Amino acid sequence: MKLTRRSFLKASAAGFGAAVLSYGLTGCGSSSDSGSDKVDVSFDHGVASGDPLHDAVVIWTRVTPKLAAANSVQVRWEVALDNTFKEMVHDGMVQVGSDTDFTLKVDLQNLEAGTRYYYRFASNERLSPVGTTRTLPEGELDQVKLAVMSCSNYPAGYFHAYAEVAKRDDLDAVLHLGDYIYEYGAGGYASDDAQALGRSFPADNNSELLTLSDYRKRYALYRTDKDLQALHQAAPFITVWDDHEVSNDTWRDGAQNHNEGEGHFDDRKLAALKAYFEWMPIRGQDSSQPIYRKFEFGDLVSLYMLDTRVLARDKQLSYADFDLTSQAGQGAFMAALTDANRSLLGGQQLNWLTDNMALSAATWQVLGQQVLMTKMWLPAEIMLILGSVEATLAAGGDVSAILAEANVLFAELAQIKGRVLAGDPSVTAAERARVETTIPYNLDAWDGYAYEREALLGAARAMQKNLVVLAGDTHNGWAGNLVTAANNPLAANSYAGVEFATSSVSSPGMEEYLSLDTTNPQAIAQTEQVIGLLIDHLHYTNLTDRGFLTLTFSRNYVDAQWHYVSSVKQRDYLMLENRRHTMRVWAGANRLDA
Ligand SMILES: [Fe+2]
Repeated sequence: MKLTRRSFLKASAAGFGAAVLSYGLTGCGSSSDSGSDKVDVSFDHGVASGDPLHDAVVIWTRVTPKLAAANSVQVRWEVALDNTFKEMVHDGMVQVGSDTDFTLKVDLQNLEAGTRYYYRFASNERLSPVGTTRTLPEGELDQVKLAVMSCSNYPAGYFHAYAEVAKRDDLDAVLHLGDYIYEYGAGGYASDDAQALGRSFPADNNSELLTLSDYRKRYALYRTDKDLQALHQAAPFITVWDDHEVSNDTWRDGAQNHNEGEGHFDDRKLAALKAYFEWMPIRGQDSSQPIYRKFEFGDLVSLYMLDTRVLARDKQLSYADFDLTSQAGQGAFMAALTDANRSLLGGQQLNWLTDNMALSAATWQVLGQQVLMTKMWLPAEIMLILGSVEATLAAGGDVSAILAEANVLFAELAQIKGRVLAGDPSVTAAERARVETTIPYNLDAWDGYAYEREALLGAARAMQKNLVVLAGDTHNGWAGNLVTAANNPLAANSYAGVEFATSSVSSPGMEEYLSLDTTNPQAIAQTEQVIGLLIDHLHYTNLTDRGFLTLTFSRNYVDAQWHYVSSVKQRDYLMLENRRHTMRVWAGANRLDA
């Protein structure tokens, strides 16, 4: 008999037995396990796959035992080259139980590169839906296509963005940059419409998430969403967590939304991350290993997924701790901001990243990570007024007068900035100072960790890499140039890469924060233009729409395209053709043109 590669794979799956690594085993799967295979189950949370490699991919499901007392269930998994499962390449049996919340992951091995596979699960004559996945392509490639998503907030709106991406058949993988769930309870952030949308939390999961059981139930709720299920079923995910998988503004040892009354932060973090590993199609089973990791798409893309949240991040700076009206206070703030000991990635992760970038021969070096890296520095006057908007909102006050004042100020400063950029000789020193005295808008982003950003950008520039950074977190679409500082010893004042940031799936963006009139497209376009003008390195802004980003990498250029839905508050929606936006960056350029 002729031994083809396919029949060899089939034989090795059946014969060598070590073709898979699976997580969440509670037993060996032998039928002597007391009645475990008699438990009736349903597959209520769909199927998923993730972390594709050239020869491996993780497949996932969860079984719901009909009998609440069941503590162990036998599940069979099957992988085939066709969706009728005639050309089977792998199968096996595992036991799952309450120790993994009845979730199960199998890390399929010995697969072929760039190949589509179909998978399904079965237990006690019940079949799961059939999932589709893909291994990473190898060798010389013409194209790699990715979708990038973040910030899916269940009570805030429908997951139309997931539904749209699920319809596509052209993606190598879906990147989720975090805020896959949110930790708030009923009545918390962005939940005003939850009841009207039919997206309230169930009674046993309607307070802020603190325990393992809380986090598990929240994932289970999200995974009942048909649009999210459809996307997981259609394509492999590559994910990282952001803050809300644990708690708002998480850093290494704490979070803005964590207080002493809520117990030890470490306990909460471990519970949150255990649930993440159980419910997400990510390789590994707990947070004892860092989640930063690398994916190679042939000779075209090296993708590095980073953890800027949990692993090493120092506590965020706060403007409240500095007296910015005094020169001493400003100096102290700048010293803290640029402190060489301040970590976001941490030394180990940063070294891993730059070492791997140095070794990579791929055309594009791509960072999948959480927070904005573009320097988002706004005139200090605007920051002051935004600060009072925030304080007034926090105190439950009316901000309409302050916002009107902010609008006037924005227009005034934009007008001056326009004259500065045009080289108008009538600009006075005082006017120039108003637009050039700038401070970072968001200290939770890379702006609050300036030293590591310079180290990373300087290294990328010195190695002459084509760097593309991806970000989520802000709930808005952005694109910017990543520029090193004038005093960067590795590469002073140069274009080191570009950043593309995706909008959110459903969390509200700037339109809510700035109370923008979304029924007035002209006013919105103007505000977006003004922000682009005031922030030096920003080249694209969408302040109002929910959606996703696609990236098409080819030999000579990368195209980023932002896609937006008309509403997340209505079941019926359209794609907003007039808001779709495409930007191209040429290999070797490392910059977006104004
Ligand atoms: Fe978010």
